[in-house]
Amino acid sequence: MATMSNSGATERDVGFTTRPLSWQTGTEILGLDLSRSDGIPEAVIARLWALLCERGILLFRDQFIDHRQHLDFTRRFGPLAETGFLSRYAPEGYPDLFTVTNIRKDGVRSETEVAAAQWHADQSFLARPARGSLLRCVEAPAVGGDTMFANMYQAFETLSEGLRRMLEGQRAFHTLFSSRARVLNGRKPPTEEEMARLGGAMHPVVITHPDTGRKALFISDQVVDHFDGWTVEESKPLLDYLYAHASQPAFTYRHAWRPGDIVFWDNRCTQHYTPVDYDLTNVDAPENRRLMFRSTLA
Ligand SMILES: [Fe+2]
Repeated sequence: MATMSNSGATERDVGFTTRPLSWQTGTEILGLDLSRSDGIPEAVIARLWALLCERGILLFRDQFIDHRQHLDFTRRFGPLAETGFLSRYAPEGYPDLFTVTNIRKDGVRSETEVAAAQWHADQSFLARPARGSLLRCVEAPAVGGDTMFANMYQAFETLSEGLRRMLEGQRAFHTLFSSRARVLNGRKPPTEEEMARLGGAMHPVVITHPDTGRKALFISDQVVDHFDGWTVEESKPLLDYLYAHASQPAFTYRHAWRPGDIVFWDNRCTQHYTPVDYDLTNVDAPENRRLMFRSTLA
């Protein structure tokens, strides 16, 4: 059934229909073919963008597209993020894509097999974080490997007025090398050059989403080290509270992947996390393979 959009037009008028994935978070888009995205009218792209900003994530199913088509669709929403520091995870010939997989190469464990094992928004450790990300599933394990999304509008709006007021004046330091981060465990320590480029950035704890005007909590377990002017020890109890609050089941949507899925999320009003509940001991078994590709919007 067609649903009403803000403009009063029905979704069918703009060439697709929608289905909510949960009450406040996520919308499935039905009836669009992303393989020839240059043919999608500008009005449809604008409507998708508005829905993304309001609902946090969009799901497109049964899109068996290739790397080039994936990037073409992504570019309809703006320029790609600078991902040079991720280039060693890019598939050959596509430096703008990031491979998320547990598949071994020449018997060597993939560095991205547990890349999202803590809550985070993509690239918030940069001075200019990524606006959006599109993750395309090529292979999904038979069991586990879902991705969870938390609605950071809801996280902010449900705090007490007193805590909201206090947080609005705060900034937090985001860094890949956070004292809380477990993502780099077992990886090579950063080089001096990586430290200089990726050392971290200070961001407001509460941001006003530029497209919706709504306030959202902008912190995450994986990369936020401390509040500006606070020690790590002082920051920890409040950060722990905020992460538990933001990730409670009522504020999350959990996506079970199927090959052909594309999930498009807005990093400004959501964060995401993949529980490591897929088999990491027998990753060469076909039923355990997980292969995804991510494009990223600047
Ligand atoms: Fe991520």
